Amino acid sequence: MSEKEHKVSRRQFLTYTLTGVGGFMAAGALMPMVRFALDPALKASAQSDMHYVCDLDDLTDEPQRFVFSYDQVDAWYESEVQHEAYIFRQGDEVIALSSSCTHLGCTVAYQEDQGEFSCPCHGGRFEKDGNNLPNLPPQRPLDRFDVLVEDGRVSVGQVNQQT
Ligand code: FES
Repeated sequence: MSEKEHKVSRRQFLTYTLTGVGGFMAAGALMPMVRFALDPALKASAQSDMHYVCDLDDLTDEPQRFVFSYDQVDAWYESEVQHEAYIFRQGDEVIALSSSCTHLGCTVAYQEDQGEFSCPCHGGRFEKDGNNLPNLPPQRPLDRFDVLVEDGRVSVGQVNQQT
């Protein structure tokens, strides 16, 4: 081949460059749309991420403390996370409350004789169903875990804020 055949004209250079930049920008604009389209599938897999904690027969109408752990994969990072929940029956429903105080995150404890949760750090108190008592540092109820009861087995999933 001659040297002339290897040369890229100014027009060709601009065409290649603009095509590359245009393709890159189009991909940047399309990625959020693809992510939006796939989001329900991603959420469905997150919701199915339930972790067995106890049997339904273990529960009463008084909150009991359960500690459970599971492996969590966050992108390329894999770790074992530990959670603590107070779980009890309320009629036909199973309630799983986070033991983390909604003020600054200290661990609350259930006082069976008073029928409420108390926080040792700043005197926060919560009713049995997790609602915060007024005029105390916590400004919102205890968080609740998603609960799944299947074949007499109680599993919990994502933890959610209550308003
Ligand atoms: S951390 Fe619980 S009251 Fe402050």
